[in-house]
This record gives sequence, C-alpha cells and structure tokens, in this order.
Amino acid sequence: MTTAIQPSEPTSRPVPPASVPTAADAAIALSIQGATKSFTRDSPSLLGRLRGKRAKRVAAVDDVSLAVPRGEIFGVLGSNGSDKSTLLRLISTLLLPDAAAISVFGLDVVTQDMAVRRLINRVSVDAAFFKKLSPWENLVYAARLYGLPARPARARSIEILEQLGIKRSRIDEPLENMSCGMQQKIAIARAFLTSPVLMLPDEPTTGLDPRSKKDVQEFILGIRQKHDATILLTTHNMVEADRLCDRLAIIDSGRIVALDTPAALKERNRAAGGDGSLEDVFMTFTGRSLEDGDYDEDEDEEQGKEAP
Ligand SMILES: Nc1ncnc2c1ncn2[C@@H]1O[C@H](COP(=O)(O)OP(=O)(O)OP(=O)(O)O)[C@@H](O)[C@H]1O
Ligand SMILES: [Mg+2]
Repeated sequence: MTTAIQPSEPTSRPVPPASVPTAADAAIALSIQGATKSFTRDSPSLLGRLRGKRAKRVAAVDDVSLAVPRGEIFGVLGSNGSDKSTLLRLISTLLLPDAAAISVFGLDVVTQDMAVRRLINRVSVDAAFFKKLSPWENLVYAARLYGLPARPARARSIEILEQLGIKRSRIDEPLENMSCGMQQKIAIARAFLTSPVLMLPDEPTTGLDPRSKKDVQEFILGIRQKHDATILLTTHNMVEADRLCDRLAIIDSGRIVALDTPAALKERNRAAGGDGSLEDVFMTFTGRSLEDGDYDEDEDEEQGKEAP
C-alpha cells in the first residue's frame, strides 16, 4: 500500500475475532428488556432562547423490549427520527442506556461490552474509511484489525465485493473516486468480512439504486443461510421489510407499536378492514405514512414526551 494514510480516519480499535457463543446462550441472539434512552437537547435556536426555551431532556428510545432468536432476520421499521439508529447504538455498545437489560448471546452490553463487540458488527451509512485506499485495501485493513491473516483476507475481500456487485476492475481504485452507493456497499462488505454472529445493518439499502438494493438484499439473505448469522436491520423500505425479515417491529417515537411476522401483520390488517399492505399496517399503528417522518419537537411537547 503506497497511498498516504489520513490520520483522522477511521477510529476502529482492534477487536479479536468473534467466537461462537456457548450452547447455553445460543438460542437467543439478542434480548432487550425495557430499553430507555433520553437525550439532552441543549442548544435551542436563538428564537427559542428569546422565547425562554432552555435545555431539556427528550425521551428517545422508550421502554423497548424484544428478543431475537439465533438465525432470525429481524427488521425495525420506522420513519425518519423514530429512533431506529439510537436503538442500534444501544445494542452495539456505542450509547449507554438510561435503563435496560440488553444482552447479546447472554452477554450484557454495558458490563461485558468488549465481549459483545467481538460478536457484533454495525453498518451505518456514515461509515469511516481510508478514502485514498482502495476497497480491498480498506477491507484487508479491517480484517487485519480483527486478526485475520492477510492472504485469506484479500481473497475473501474480493469475493465479497464481487458478490455485492463491485466489479473486479474497480477494486483497486481509491475509495474517494467512488459513488456514495458504492461506498455503502463497501461498508457492508467490510462488516460481513469478519463473520460477526449478530449483524446490525442500519438502513443497508437507503440511497442505493434498485439493482444495488437487490444485490445487498440477496447478500444479506445469503449470509444468514451460509454463516449462521442473526441479523437485526433497520429500514424504512416496506418492500425490503417484507422480503427480508422473518419478523418486524414497527417503531414510532421510540416505542414499539407492533411486532410480528410481516404475513401476520398484514393478515391482522386485512381482518380489521385494511387493504392488507404493509403501508396500511404502518398507517394503522402510527397514524402516519412512512414518508411523513417522525420528528416534531412541538408535537413531542404536546404529547408530554419530555423526559423528567
Ligand atoms: N446524541 C444525540 N443527542 C441528542 N439527540 C439525539 C442524539 N442522537 C439522536 N438524537 C435524536 O434522537 C431522535 C432519533 O434519532 P435516530 O437517529 O435514532 O432516528 P432514526 O429513526 O434512525 O432516523 P433516520 O431514519 O433519519 O435515520 C432524533 O430526534 C435525533 O435528533
Ligand atoms: Mg437512522
């Protein structure tokens, strides 16, 4: 690798490879009980300050409980600002909950965070890379951090990049020359390279064109089948939720308002006089369409969502 490394990127710390959880812990990959998180909104606008507004605690994730069995693809479906990413950050040890019992294969995310990190990998759209290095160089770098030998890491990197539709002719180009969609695919490739036992893709296909969406969805389905992975993903794409997920939780203002298989949710909707589409299911449980978004500070105040 001859290209200069930019010191500010990325911030990953070496983490030993994932080990397969013991049989005693194997049935439930993820357990969340009563997860709650609020934030301090501490910088009101000038207009807000003139009106006498001050910093305040705002409830985000609000008493979320769920359990994901090993091998399941579980979807968290919600509009913008519904706290999907915040929930993922609580699971992936990046945020401390105000209250919760969250465990990954029986390991507590707060007290056993380093052990949990060996089992998980979160993929987000704001993934950090060495932008002057090529996709495979970035992947090999990540693999080495996880303790994989260089030669198999390179072969596996190329294989995964090809599965995701990145042509071999492009894998030597600097990442900074690539489109956002391609960089997103490379973030997914990097996360799956180390075969985490619990995968946490945060909106893995948002912003991708239809062909790339399909590549990523096929890849996720294939990984679950081949690698005994459990996947909890967030999305606001109904088709994706329906196609990929064994079960779905619909999240609205940080609360789970429905949780079941896509088929059961649609059936219940039909039985209640709806049209049986996931759009209608979403509308019934949240009172809004996915496109409307979730964030409305004044609405939160009106609904008494301000935390104590
Ligand atoms: N560190 C933080 N400090 C203060 N507020 C935060 C913080 N992180 C998230 N929030 C707020 O929590 C709410 C939910 O954000 P989050 O990113 O979890 O939503 P999301 O469902 O992932 O939305 P999107 O679909 O746009 O990704 C937003 O109102 C956001 O401003
Ligand atoms: Mg998000």
